[in-house]
Order: sequence, then structure tokens, then C-alpha cells
Amino acid sequence: MINVALPKGRLGEKVYEILENAGYGCPAIREKNRRLIFENTEAGISYFWVKPSDVAIYVERGAADIGIAGKDILIEYEPDVFELLDLGIGVCRMCVCGRPDFRPDPSRPLRVATKFPNTARQYYAAKSEEIDIIHLNGSIELAPIIGLSDVIVDIVETGKTLAENGLVPLAVVNPISARLIANKASGKFKYDEIQRLCLAVEAEVENRKENE
Ligand code: PRP
Repeated sequence: MINVALPKGRLGEKVYEILENAGYGCPAIREKNRRLIFENTEAGISYFWVKPSDVAIYVERGAADIGIAGKDILIEYEPDVFELLDLGIGVCRMCVCGRPDFRPDPSRPLRVATKFPNTARQYYAAKSEEIDIIHLNGSIELAPIIGLSDVIVDIVETGKTLAENGLVPLAVVNPISARLIANKASGKFKYDEIQRLCLAVEAEVENRKENE
């Protein structure tokens, strides 16, 4: 049996579709209810829905053998897991964003508001720039508009949130997409099952690319 941590929400539903088409369906999962665990013993698979930012924790600690996490989370928390496959969905960019007329003030450190402090710190450390991190949990776009920060480091998908708040992307920090990850011990002890699943998922991902 392979235990899979699925990210709750739209991304998780797309991921489940891929797994279902790859031969790892679990029909009960499509019933509208609030259950969190689903199992298909015939297919040797069990799923649980978790908060997207928690997937890597379940996998790192072995509560799930595999999971699907955004590259943003993997870069930010650096969990000790195997990264098996880029699923090519949940594609977006981690960007530095600000007002279109933004100019840095060389007399003080740049104030950066973000949900991703480690990612921001790494990005500016590589440029040897000193920054003052303001760690927020959401509505990041507000920070430079009301003067809490100079810029933000945040996810840009369609760019709509930025545009509607009068902000623009200033630089790309990292390209982001959903990744299939595995617990390191499971990767060894359940090597055959995980390898089989990984190959079936990879074929399905390729298939979807061709039909796009
Ligand atoms: C994310 C991100 C941006 C937005 C980008 O926020 O932090 O605010 O999506 O998407 P877009 O480019 O398609 O507009 P999320 O929806 O997770 O909400 P949050 O503000 O609570 O973090």
C-alpha cells in the first residue's frame, strides 16, 4: 500500500485526476463529503487530503510515502525528501514585485514583505544585498501599497492580483510547479511500488502535454 498526501484544493484535484488516469483511482474521493482519508486496496493506494503547505511535513516524517508539493514549499522549507518528478501543473513564478516607480533607497536595507522568508533571504544573499524581512501570512500585495514594505517576494500565477493592486513583477526569483516527492525510507523499502507509480504518472503527464 502506498500512502499519498494530496494538497487540498484546486491543485490537489488536478493531481488526483492525473493519479486516477495513471491507474490509481479511488472512486470514493469524488463523493462530496468532508472525509480526509480514502483507500483503494485493490489498487494498493490510500490518499489523504492535507493543507498544501503541510504535504512536505507528512512526507518527510513518513506519515505519507509520497506527496505532491509546490516547488515554492520545497525551496522555502528544504524538507529532507526525494524529489521524483515535475508534474508540470501549478505552474507559476516566485517574483520580487513592487510599485512600477520603485527605486531602492541605498541609505537603508530593503524592506521585503513575504510569506517565504528563507526564499527571500537566499535570493538577496546571493546578490549580497542586505534586507529587512517582514514575515506576513497573506494579502502580501498590501504591504508596498500602504508603505509597510518596499517590495514583496510572492507567487505570481496569472498576475491578476498584482495588476489589480497597481504592482508589477520586478524580477523572477524561481520558476515554480508541483513536484512528486517521496519519503526517503519509503523510497528504499517501497522502491518497486513507488517506481511503478512514478512511471505511470510520468506517462500520464507526458500524455497531457501532448494533448494540450
Ligand atoms: C497567492 C499569491 C498571490 C496570488 C497570485 O495568494 O500570494 O497573492 O495567489 O495569483 P495571481 O497571479 O493569479 O493573481 P493566495 O491566493 O494563496 O492568497 P493569500 O493572499 O492568502 O496568500
